[in-house]
Amino acid sequence: MKKPPTFQIFTVLLSLLLISAAGIGRERSIPTVPRLLQAVGNSNNLQVRKGTPFKIAIFADLHFGEDPWTDWAPRQDVNSLKVMSSVLDAETPGLVVYLGDVITANNLATHNASLYWDKAISPARDRNIPWATVFGNHDDAKFEWPKAWLSPSGVPPTRCPGTTSGCPSRGTTRVELVQGEIKASVKGLSRTMMGPNQLLPSVSNYVLPLKSSDPSKPAVALLYFLDSGGGSYPSVISNAQVEWFKTVSNARNPDLRIPELIFWHIPSKAYEKVAPPTDDEISKPCVGSITFDGKVATQDAENGMMAVLENRSSVKAVFVGHNHGLDWCCPGEKNLWLCFARHTGYGGYGFWDRGARIVEITETPLGIKSWIRMEDGFVHSEVNLSRA
Ligand SMILES: *[C@@H]1O[C@H](CO)[C@@H](O)[C@H](O)[C@H]1NC(C)=O
Ligand SMILES: *[C@@H]1O[C@H](CO)[C@@H](O)[C@H](O)[C@H]1NC(C)=O
Ligand SMILES: *[C@@H]1O[C@H](CO)[C@@H](O)[C@H](O)[C@H]1NC(C)=O
Repeated sequence: MKKPPTFQIFTVLLSLLLISAAGIGRERSIPTVPRLLQAVGNSNNLQVRKGTPFKIAIFADLHFGEDPWTDWAPRQDVNSLKVMSSVLDAETPGLVVYLGDVITANNLATHNASLYWDKAISPARDRNIPWATVFGNHDDAKFEWPKAWLSPSGVPPTRCPGTTSGCPSRGTTRVELVQGEIKASVKGLSRTMMGPNQLLPSVSNYVLPLKSSDPSKPAVALLYFLDSGGGSYPSVISNAQVEWFKTVSNARNPDLRIPELIFWHIPSKAYEKVAPPTDDEISKPCVGSITFDGKVATQDAENGMMAVLENRSSVKAVFVGHNHGLDWCCPGEKNLWLCFARHTGYGGYGFWDRGARIVEITETPLGIKSWIRMEDGFVHSEVNLSRA
């Protein structure tokens, strides 16, 4: 069919317009690329890259700053930096989660524990990897004055050994630690948030969406961080935290379509019920390599939090640290996975080889799996965290 002349003119004009627009686009694309990259780097978004699984490295119980007035103890921190570096270089994760007990504040004769906190985070920051932190029971603990520091006559020294001023009368608070972390975070790499005021004294309660590689699609996963207490107040998940979680999760994921992962430091009582028995080999459905004592040191109270999580089929797994001699994942009620991290730090008790739990989220097909990478590179205990 012959087209009318007006249509032909229109087509020619349109083609000219498109060609020139494409030309402009090509010319401009050179200077705009760095600007776009910068925008992505500065945004607070975690985003999956198309065709690439998103990995999270969990660093648990680093315990920086134990007995820093001795010779041997600072060497532990250097060793912990080596563990983190080796894991990060092998896995190149998109996010690092510092899962509490980043520092041993009760050993720190300093007025500002942020300096130790900052050191612990440096391996992620040095590699431009975003990180998120939650608190453990040692992070804001009060300095405990060693009895050995008393003179034979029982007279306390006027100065704490290794410090230039008197012994601190209190620990660095959770709020001060978060503020210090965010202030010291270059390029906005810290994804940690203070959390709502109504949840105080519990701090670091927040959610981070992991965005899809396709911006028009909903988030690939929601990562929830909660403060399980300990240190300056009892180890509890409060009623207020449970209500906060219900409100936030219902608002963000009302139809339970987005997988959700939970991170906090101290295991809830549900972990006790599924723990592989003492000195037994860990057998399916549990997956792991160490079950020292089998004993789980749990939170004091959780105010129904686990029932809420079990009831949401979108919640696939909970990740905790705290027990250095446990590294298993076991399915709990309604097949919700309960996972321990792996003791990462040379600080803190325990003689087990150090490592880190890795969580891998794949967008298409959607899947979540996890494994443990050791300091020497050995990988073990891979587990599929889909909730059957
Ligand atoms: C503690 O040190 C950090 C830097 O690591 C700094 O940002 C913060 O202001 C300091 N806090 C206090 C109370 O001195
Ligand atoms: C479990 O979920 C259903 C709907 O998904 C809801 O009506 C019910 O209140 C929930 N129960 C608990 C204990 O959260
Ligand atoms: C993980 O488990 C789920 C549920 O049992 C299953 O559908 C899925 O295929 C498994 N994924 C892999 C990679 O094995």
